[in-house]
Amino acid sequence: MGIQNEQLKEAADMILQAKHLVALTGAGISAESGIPTFRGGSGLWELYDPEEVASMSGFRRNPEAFWEFAQDLLLLEEASPNPGHEALAWLESAGYLNTIITQNIDFLHQKAGSKSVLELHGSLQEAKCLDCGREYKWSELTPIVKEEKIPICDKCESKRIKPDIVFFGEQLPQKTVDKAWKEVNKCDLMLVIGTSLIVYPAASLPSLAKERGADLIYNNKGSGEQDEIFDLVLTGPAARVLPRLIKLIKQV
Ligand code: OAD
Ligand code: ZN
Repeated sequence: MGIQNEQLKEAADMILQAKHLVALTGAGISAESGIPTFRGGSGLWELYDPEEVASMSGFRRNPEAFWEFAQDLLLLEEASPNPGHEALAWLESAGYLNTIITQNIDFLHQKAGSKSVLELHGSLQEAKCLDCGREYKWSELTPIVKEEKIPICDKCESKRIKPDIVFFGEQLPQKTVDKAWKEVNKCDLMLVIGTSLIVYPAASLPSLAKERGADLIYNNKGSGEQDEIFDLVLTGPAARVLPRLIKLIKQV
């Protein structure tokens, strides 16, 4: 308890002094909203082979495998933001946080009220037919998925309607990448939350920021792949740690 409080106070001071704060988030921040992470004990990649269900070549070969995996993505639509997302939205509205760079596709930062959100891995809001280009809203497709059927393009009858999320083997959306890298170059503090820092290029952002002279804070439930590069580590669930952190900031 004692040490954690000291660390929280140190983190609050760093945030208060920062001129340009950027947050980088991953699946862990949405864990308390009931969304499974990808790695670790009950992670999605224990249940599914990402090469099969979330790669470009897998999808072209066998779109059915993605739609089976999509059963587990249905809950994203109904999920609500948790106190971790809300804490970040407050930090932005109070003028302490400039931008969130997220790897998440769940839209929960925006649902919590965050305005400046860069979605590096896309978002589960839209979809597009790979064969004829017809665009769909994800919400148009979910009723079909709920019946355990596969959406078929009503223009060209293709089975390859792909959601607007980044699959393995695909480039990240260029405009978002450009904005994110600019933010990383500008920041003097980066708050990294709920990500294992395994998947590149997102995983390179903290070390890039550090090379530019920024300080780094890590809030994660367990250890990740790059714990040693951080100036301060706050271990614990984001939905509990972040509200405690902003409470200290509000007291100033
Ligand atoms: P991971 O599943 O790899 O890592 C989630 C991290 O969150 C782990 O290090 C956990 O310890 C931590 N964690 C779990 N519960 C938490 C909690 N309540 N509070 C804080 N931390 C918690 O997820 P990402 O790093 O986001 O990409 O994964 C990166 C990318 O890999 C994803 O965007 C996805 C996936 O393949 C694509 O689909 C392109
Ligand atoms: Zn089509």
